[in-house]
Amino acid sequence: MSYSDVLIGLQFGDEGKAKIIDLLAEDYDIIARFNGGSNAGHTVVHEGKKLILRQIPSGVMYADKQLYIGSGCALNLVQIADEIARIESAGIDVKGRLAISGLISVIQPHHIELDCLFGKYVGTTKNGIGPYYAGRCTRVLDQRLQNIRLGELLMKEELFEAIADNYRFHQEIYGFESEVDLEDYLAKMRASLKNLEQCIVQEQNYLLQEVKAGKTVLFEGAQSFLLDVIKGTVPFVTSSHTMASYAYVGGDLPAKYHRKTIGVAKAVMSRVGEGPFLTEIGDDSILDPVKNAKQNEAHLDVEKMLLSSDTNTYAQGLRIASNEYGSATGRPRRMGHLDIPLMKWSIECNGVDEVYLNKIDLFNLFAQGGDKIPVVSAYQLAEGAKTDRFSPLVDKIERPDYLDIPSFSDPKKSEGTVLEIEKLVGTKIKAYGIGPAREEMIFRS
Ligand code: GDP
Ligand code: IMO
Ligand code: MG
Repeated sequence: MSYSDVLIGLQFGDEGKAKIIDLLAEDYDIIARFNGGSNAGHTVVHEGKKLILRQIPSGVMYADKQLYIGSGCALNLVQIADEIARIESAGIDVKGRLAISGLISVIQPHHIELDCLFGKYVGTTKNGIGPYYAGRCTRVLDQRLQNIRLGELLMKEELFEAIADNYRFHQEIYGFESEVDLEDYLAKMRASLKNLEQCIVQEQNYLLQEVKAGKTVLFEGAQSFLLDVIKGTVPFVTSSHTMASYAYVGGDLPAKYHRKTIGVAKAVMSRVGEGPFLTEIGDDSILDPVKNAKQNEAHLDVEKMLLSSDTNTYAQGLRIASNEYGSATGRPRRMGHLDIPLMKWSIECNGVDEVYLNKIDLFNLFAQGGDKIPVVSAYQLAEGAKTDRFSPLVDKIERPDYLDIPSFSDPKKSEGTVLEIEKLVGTKIKAYGIGPAREEMIFRS
């Protein structure tokens, strides 16, 4: 029987989604992306090989799997050319089994410029994602086509002139000082388009036909639920839909094939970029992309920092010990306690059937030498009231309310701790991660 499953992140991104996709991909025929673009940084570690993927689906490690990039994604032609070259140079074929929807649109150079100019408030990844999705909705601006679809670009060379015109038009309005050479950038886009020609599917029901022919699909969410453009912590979100149900819009398959929804969370929470993080430890305003870059924090005495009563020092220690730096951007991530109401909210909104919980091996770091791990079980509202319901309209919340769960002596023996988390979130935790590699997962009975 043909079916499709959807995997999404339940927190603020970087939960280790790619690791779980890489683990589960074996059981599917097609791994498909339905949202986002090169803003993603997905790490897969297998047999000592580590790959950071941004647009290519994380099933790429298996030579026999088909890969699909759906119309809901943002295609950066220049970046994907580099990414494919990087993967193929590691001896892994990509182009022979990659299909890209002709209905996807392309990131244009002015999208990136505008994102660099205006993305600071949200703390974007500067991949042009916001302006790209905005342009899709704008459709036409002063008779200029804003939404340039891949399938059309392939057939109409004059659309490259439209891209150049869009660039000049926006440059005149916003006065950005270009760091890119426009002609050079367009030449790279053209070369990548030509290189990808065989991968572009003009047949709009490509995935449906594959599924009807008996294939199974695993949809890979990029970003994560709390970064959904509508349901997340607006405006500190990405610009695509990250919800599981969007897989059937951006992934180009009728929803009737849906079988189950898989949620991925991590026990050591983090967030990169601006926006509310209710269980955050320390003060994110001290985070500096250079001072707190991985190489500049590496020499610090982590053991000592983890025992510090100064929350900023403690958060820094947690970041170093758990290697929480952006996979693609290298940005230092903000650190926080496991937020149970947030997880429950994500599970509820997305109808998550089972959870994979990564980074249990690092969960003991929160015990600060003791035998209890504090997790956030509720939030204190003003005037003493309390709630255990997360809301993306977070203004009313004063501070988190903690509950202690037992720590463990060895990650391989953390079943009791995982069981406590499972009871709190009320959904089956199918397996938990004790390291970055595909094999470092413990499946529960
Ligand atoms: P994604 O964007 O959700 O795919 O996650 P990222 O790749 O951005 O970040 C997850 C990071 O955690 C990567 O460096 C992974 O190698 C690492 N990781 C994943 N699972 C585990 C785990 O169970 N334990 C540890 N220590 N690291 C993990
Ligand atoms: P993966 O798929 C973590 C965050 C950015 C910023 C906000 C908007 O690896 O989990 P954007 O560039 O999308 O306009 O940025 O969203 N963000 C992510 N955070 N992981 C990601 O992807 C992210 N993609 C975007 O930091 O706060
Ligand atoms: Mg990531």
